[in-house]
Amino acid sequence: MQDQPTYKLILWSLVTLSSLLCQGWAAKCAANDHAPTVQQTQVETTDPPKYMVEVRNSCPMCPVINVHLKCGSFPQALVSPRLLKVLAFDDCVVNAGLPLQPLQKLSFNYSHNKFLLRPTIWYFQCE
Ligand SMILES: *[C@@H]1O[C@H](CO)[C@@H](O)[C@H](O)[C@H]1NC(C)=O
Repeated sequence: MQDQPTYKLILWSLVTLSSLLCQGWAAKCAANDHAPTVQQTQVETTDPPKYMVEVRNSCPMCPVINVHLKCGSFPQALVSPRLLKVLAFDDCVVNAGLPLQPLQKLSFNYSHNKFLLRPTIWYFQCE
């Protein structure tokens, strides 16, 4: 009974501290804010056409890791797994899951009918 206030104080401090930390992260780049972007540009009107893909970390403050894309039945043979690794149907990971630095762009080309590519999962590494 005697040390209950201390316990409460510690608990209160922890709660306050963790909410401050969360706000700090949110102020940098929150999960749904600054989502990585995927841009596809047709660069050759051959048959099959050729597309240039640019995946960009649009957060100006923090690296982003583990960027997964919805990628349909994208064949691994079209691209180096170092750039885009096909894990399963509709699940591809960019840059082997390694960080894209703030505003860094990763680019690759493929020759095939267009695949829809869009980010599904990513994690910011804000300090
Ligand atoms: C993709 O193709 C474009 C146009 O041919 C070229 O400028 C660019 O360097 C290519 N990118 C890569 C990563 O090969």
